[in-house]
Amino acid sequence: MYIFLADFVLQDIVCAANVQHNCVDSQCTVSGTKKIQQECLHTTWTAPTVKHKSMCEYLLNVYSIHNYKYIQELVPENLHCTPLHVSNVLEAQKSAVSQMNASKAAKSALTKGHSTV
Ligand SMILES: *[C@@H]1O[C@H](CO)[C@@H](O)[C@H](O)[C@H]1NC(C)=O
Repeated sequence: MYIFLADFVLQDIVCAANVQHNCVDSQCTVSGTKKIQQECLHTTWTAPTVKHKSMCEYLLNVYSIHNYKYIQELVPENLHCTPLHVSNVLEAQKSAVSQMNASKAAKSALTKGHSTV
């Protein structure tokens, strides 16, 4: 979902930030499913579609990798703590890579044989 602001000066835009609708507090509901297309491939996977309630609350990922410096500047000083603590960073990284590899292999196995668009 994109939000366009009518009154802005192009030079004032510093970066783009991804926000997610606060579906939990807004009590948005699942309205159906949609088929997932991965790059040019049709897949048999489906994902739920959400009917968003018109509540203007959005969540900003302050841990975003993209434009991290600018997004951190928006976060009030008292919220600059890091609530997630990983005792063994190397082990956590290895585990994440293993999960990504497994996920990639599973997706690759599922999409083989599907037609291209
Ligand atoms: C993940 O995949 C990469 C690329 O295929 C490979 O080099 C790496 O060893 C794999 N790592 C793990 C932890 O499975």
